[in-house]
Formats: sequence, C-alpha cells, structure tokens
Amino acid sequence: MLFKKKKLLGLDVGSVSTKLVEVLNEKTGPLITAADEFRTPEQALNEGEIVDIDSTAAFLSETVRRHKWFGRKTVAAVGGLKVFIRQMKIPSMPQKELFTAVDWEAKKLLPFSGEELVKDFVLLGEDELDGKKVLSVLLAAAPKQMVVSYHKLCRKAGLVLAAVDIIPYALLRCFNFLSGTLESRAAPVGLLDIGAQYTHFVIVKGNRVLFSRAISVGGKNITGLFSELAATNREAAERTGVNEEEKANTGEFIPAFLDVGMRAGLEELVKEIRRSLDYYRVQEPGNLPDRVVISGGASVLPGLPDFFSSEMGIEFLPMEVPPESTAVAWNPRLAVATGLALRGVDLGAGWD
Ligand SMILES: Nc1ncnc2c1ncn2[C@@H]1O[C@H](COP(=O)(O)OP(=O)(O)OP(=O)(O)O)[C@@H](O)[C@H]1O
Ligand SMILES: [Mg+2]
Repeated sequence: MLFKKKKLLGLDVGSVSTKLVEVLNEKTGPLITAADEFRTPEQALNEGEIVDIDSTAAFLSETVRRHKWFGRKTVAAVGGLKVFIRQMKIPSMPQKELFTAVDWEAKKLLPFSGEELVKDFVLLGEDELDGKKVLSVLLAAAPKQMVVSYHKLCRKAGLVLAAVDIIPYALLRCFNFLSGTLESRAAPVGLLDIGAQYTHFVIVKGNRVLFSRAISVGGKNITGLFSELAATNREAAERTGVNEEEKANTGEFIPAFLDVGMRAGLEELVKEIRRSLDYYRVQEPGNLPDRVVISGGASVLPGLPDFFSSEMGIEFLPMEVPPESTAVAWNPRLAVATGLALRGVDLGAGWD
C-alpha cells in the first residue's frame, strides 16, 4: 500500500489555526506520533486559498524545524465553499472510457466561475438505478490556484507535498481509524467538523463518502455571541457588583447564560444541518445515519452534543481517540490533519 511503513504528515491550514499531525504506519497499526499547531496568520487564507504564503511558510518552517520534519511527505486538504464535491451516477462502462465520461458530466455539473479547476474523481462502486447498472462516482473539483498555493507553501517550508485531499475523506479516515470496530463502519454515520469559519458535514459508510457539504457557519459566529454574552455580563456586573464578565472570560459561564448563547448561535447551524439531512434523505432513503460524530475547535463547547441530539433527534457524540492510538495528546481540532496523515494507511478489513 501507498506510503507503507513511513511516517506521513497531515497539514490542515484552518482560518484560525494550522494543524499538523504525524502518523507512523506500523505493522501493529497506525500510531499518532506527533501533533502541533500554530495560529494561521491573519488574512492568510482567502476562500480556501493561501494568499499570504510567506507569513504562513515562516510559521510552518519554524514548526518543521522544531520537529525535524524537513523533507517529510505531507498530505494537505482543500476545503470551504469553493471546493465542489458531488456524487453522480453514470452508465456502466469500461474503466478506460470513464475519465472522459466523468469529465463530460463534470462540465455539466460544475458552476461556471471562469476559474481554472483541478478535477478528480473516485469510483465508489456499481449501483442499480431503474433496473439498469450505473456507476457511482464522487467528483471533486477545486480552483487550480488553491491547490497550487499548497504546493508553494510546502516547498517554501521544506515539506514534500505528496497529495492534496478533500476534507470529507480526511474525516472519513480519521473516524474509521479512531472508532475502530468494523460494526461501526457498516452503518452510515454523520461526521460534523465545526471549525472557526466553516462547518463540514459529511455522511459516510465504510469507505464511502455518501454526502458532503460545507456550511459557512463556525466558531466565529458562536464566539461573536460569547462577546455579546460578555456584554450582558458586564451590564449585570454594573447592576450587581459581581464581575460576571471575568467569570465568562475564564470560561466559568453561568449555565443558563451559556444555554441561551448556544441556542441563538447554533440555530443557523442546526437549520443548515437539517436542510442537508432533508436533501440527503431524498437522495439516499435507505442510508440515514442514526448518529453524528463531531470534531473541530468549536465542537468542544460544553453541552454541544446533547444540544444537537435534542434539536435533531439523532445521537451526536464527540470524536475521541483511544489512548493506544496516540503517543501524544490529541484533541478534536486535529481530526482533519489526522485523517490526512492516514492517507494510504491500511485500516484493516472492511476498508475496501
Ligand atoms: N474551548 C472552546 N470553546 C468553544 N469554542 C472553541 C474553544 N476552543 C476553540 N474554539 C473555537 O474553535 C475555533 C478553532 O477551531 P478550528 O481549529 O477547528 O478552526 P479552523 O480549522 O482554524 O477553522 P476553519 O476550518 O473554519 O477554517 C475557534 O475559532 C473557536 O471559535
Ligand atoms: Mg478547520
């Protein structure tokens, strides 16, 4: 298998934080051997493209030097609203004709933007539609400049960019690795990564991505509400003489306040997830997930899984890493970078 017995780096440049995870592919299974992150320079990322390569590369080089990662093979991910991911069905045909057919179908599907796009596809398998055999294909397309920016960044920082992946596959690999059991891969599962600017909602089953959507709501929107909350606390402090703002800043929220803030801030997200599930239900009626695993920086908000569960009637759980899978401290912000570093790693039977 690709990259076998090697250490691979996953690089996830987020709008607020850039995460790096190193995975060693051992005979006994993959092991997370290192993880690090730095604050992405302000304005460095614009709609998924790294526009300030110099500043980002300066921080990245420093991290590479510290971990002695120079020359290391790296997998990066592109994400956000400009990455187009869609499942499509095309008539069954020989493999060699597939590329032209997918390209032709892609032209019909892709929104015209005038930008040059990099396209790729994954053959998911053969299905039946109205009694006829069809091929299920997952198409991904991203602006060429976005992909090129990652090449430039890695070259500047002394890393070798081995592949550019998409966030849904990184999340899928991370989930399959961390949640281990084969039973867990047999049923459809939702994966929700709540970053600072974007939330990626993905539905997977086994090694298939069945649905994927980027939503432009994230921690930034919710943090905005925390600021409002702080203002409310400030007013309360003036009235009562108790400094609730200080409490809020140290994370000691009054539960009732937190609840109100969460509800208002996450309303939009709940609406978008519901909308995605409604769309998906029509596309894949037999493959509804009964649980959603959440990751990303904003997923650590206290009470978030319970809030989502009660709002949506599906079980939401935090993504967790079993202690034997990592030699370093792990947190849910690292999910995408972890999945990237797992590219090409044999995750065992059931991973076809
Ligand atoms: N303890 C916390 N409670 C609530 N939210 C938090 C906490 N810690 C971090 N966050 C949120 O997580 C965000 C960072 O998460 P993450 O690193 O996943 O984002 P990102 O990858 O940089 O962003 P994106 O993927 O949207 O470009 C912060 O902006 C903040 O809103
Ligand atoms: Mg992110």
